[in-house]
Parts: sequence; structure tokens; C-alpha cells
Amino acid sequence: MKFFIDTANLDQIKEAKDLGILDGVTTNPSLMAKEGITGTNNILKHYKSICDLVDGPVSAEVISTDFKGMIDEGRRLADLAENIVVKVPMIKDGVKALSWFHANEISTNCTLIFSAGQAILAAKAGATFLSPFIGRIDDMSWDGIDLIKQIVEIYGIQGWDTQILAASIRTPLHIVQAAQAGADVVTCPLSAILGLLKHPLTDLGLQQFLDDHAKANANHIIKK
Ligand code: E4P
Repeated sequence: MKFFIDTANLDQIKEAKDLGILDGVTTNPSLMAKEGITGTNNILKHYKSICDLVDGPVSAEVISTDFKGMIDEGRRLADLAENIVVKVPMIKDGVKALSWFHANEISTNCTLIFSAGQAILAAKAGATFLSPFIGRIDDMSWDGIDLIKQIVEIYGIQGWDTQILAASIRTPLHIVQAAQAGADVVTCPLSAILGLLKHPLTDLGLQQFLDDHAKANANHIIKK
């Protein structure tokens, strides 16, 4: 399973990259706004900075909701860097745009996926990635991981190669469950990635090793 970071924050992207586990980045208009990036030129410049930082796919979302607007925006985004993936919402014109991008060899990420039916349409339209929103489904007291399992099963049966990108990840447990369910990619905030590190027995065990080493070393110095 590939690891993407779900942020437009350059420091967080660098921190995840330094761990050596980063395969790509996803952003959305809310994440760009959170970083205070406004105006078309600044937004394009920021995407370029992210693409210069990471080698893997960088999802950049279109703002248009009509076919022509999505194509124009997507082409401009794709021209920025080779690793740009045009993020397209699951709406009627979005499906049409996914088909157009597929025919024109531009990578896409179909976003705002909440059902298996939507996942089927996106795969048929040739989406490169598909983003089911696990956390937002859980927020409605449904089961986001169940949707991942269902899509993994359908894509397996049909032999479709659209990559399932588990999105809207909120916790380290979501990451573990997405891996277990067979997601191809998980995109998560840095906090969820770092949360995977945590176990009290690791901290206690390490402290004990360091204490034992320090004691043994102190005796060694005294004996000398
Ligand atoms: C990623 O592609 C999505 O835009 C993102 O994961 C949404 O996450 P959220 O539900 O935490 O906003």
C-alpha cells in the first residue's frame, strides 16, 4: 500500500518525506485555503512547489463543475509537472471529464466517492485513482472501511485497474484497516501517520534498554 500525505503544508510534506515513507500527496481546495494560498497564480505556484518536493503523484483539484472548465483547468494543472494528477469530483460532467483525461493520457483522481456505484462509474471512465472518503462516512455512523472492502471486491472481480485511494483518514486505525481491506493507497494527515509509531510498551522498553545500558556503562567506568 502506498502512503500519500493529505495536506498542502510544505513543512508537513517535508517531514513525511524525511521519514522515507512518502509516495505522494493529495490536496483539495479546503487544504489549499487552510494554508492561505489564494488566487490562480499563487495556487498554481504552490502546486509546482509541492511537485518539486516529491517524486510521486500530486493530486490537484479542479474548481470548475462543467466539462469544458474541468478540461481547461486540468490541462493547465497537468502542464505544471509530470507528477500532477488532476482531481475531479464525482458528478456527471466529472465522469465525462475523467473519460476525456483518460483518452488524453492525463492521470486523474476521482474524488468525493461515497458509494460502490460511484466507484464503478469512475473505473469505467478510466480514473487512475479513486478516493472513497472513509472518515466522512464514519461521521454519518456508516462504515467507511466496509465501502473500501466492497470496492476492492468489485474491482477484483471485474479486473479494473483504477487504484483505490482510501481518503478522509482520521486515525492510525483507519490506516491499518485500509491496509487490511486491500486499499492500493492511503492518504492521511501527518498526525495519523505519526500515530502509527505510538505504543507505550515501545517507550517503556526503550527506556529500560537505555537505563540498563547507562547503569552497565557507569559500572564499567568505575571499575576502570
Ligand atoms: C483527499 O483526497 C480528501 O480531499 C481528503 O482526504 C478529505 O479529508 P477530510 O474528510 O478529513 O476533509
